[in-house]
Amino acid sequence: MSDQPDTDARHLFSIREFVFPQDYPAVIALWQAAGEGIQIRRSDRLEEIQKKVQRDPDLFLLAEHQGKVIGSVMGGFDGRRGMMYHLAVALEYRKQGLATLLVEELEKRLRMKGCIRYYLLVTKDNHTAIQYYENHGWELMDLYTYAKDL
Ligand SMILES: CC(C)(COP(=O)(O)OP(=O)(O)OC[C@H]1O[C@@H](n2cnc3c(N)ncnc32)[C@H](O)[C@@H]1OP(=O)(O)O)[C@@H](O)C(=O)NCCC(=O)NCCS
Repeated sequence: MSDQPDTDARHLFSIREFVFPQDYPAVIALWQAAGEGIQIRRSDRLEEIQKKVQRDPDLFLLAEHQGKVIGSVMGGFDGRRGMMYHLAVALEYRKQGLATLLVEELEKRLRMKGCIRYYLLVTKDNHTAIQYYENHGWELMDLYTYAKDL
């Protein structure tokens, strides 16, 4: 056995698909505790998450440690572009490569579906996340983002 300290704790975590509705309370708690970077909206209600899971059951991923949900990412693919939503890691588990593990798994799954480009939305004041994305190959697009409630 090596005397070196274990600097990569990623093997301690497991990644699995979100199970509806059992995982919903733990995931909402994770998002609520994640800070302002995750804004819980109408789309995060139980019935909306159910629609999401029916459409892309394999793109909503959780990270777990000893049975506790400690990370999430939700992907989507519409046949042309992909999306990433609600990448979040519990505060005490950050900076251990967990977000990267979740994103790598999501990207593997998006690629397998034929997705060649995907997007994310981040608020302008979320400096930690922006730094993370810019360090991990994301490019800022010079566009307005419009949205409309239906
Ligand atoms: C953004 C967020 C998801 C990143 O999660 P994370 O698990 O800390 O991310 P990672 O550990 O994969 O990477 C973060 C940094 O830790 C570093 N790191 C990874 N493993 C490490 C280790 N074993 N030791 C030291 N540093 C390590 C990474 O290199 C990375 O630094 P870099 O960006 O300079 O490359 C997290 O800060 C978060 O949940 N924020 C709140 C929610 C939010 O705002 N989400 C974004 C919504 S758009």
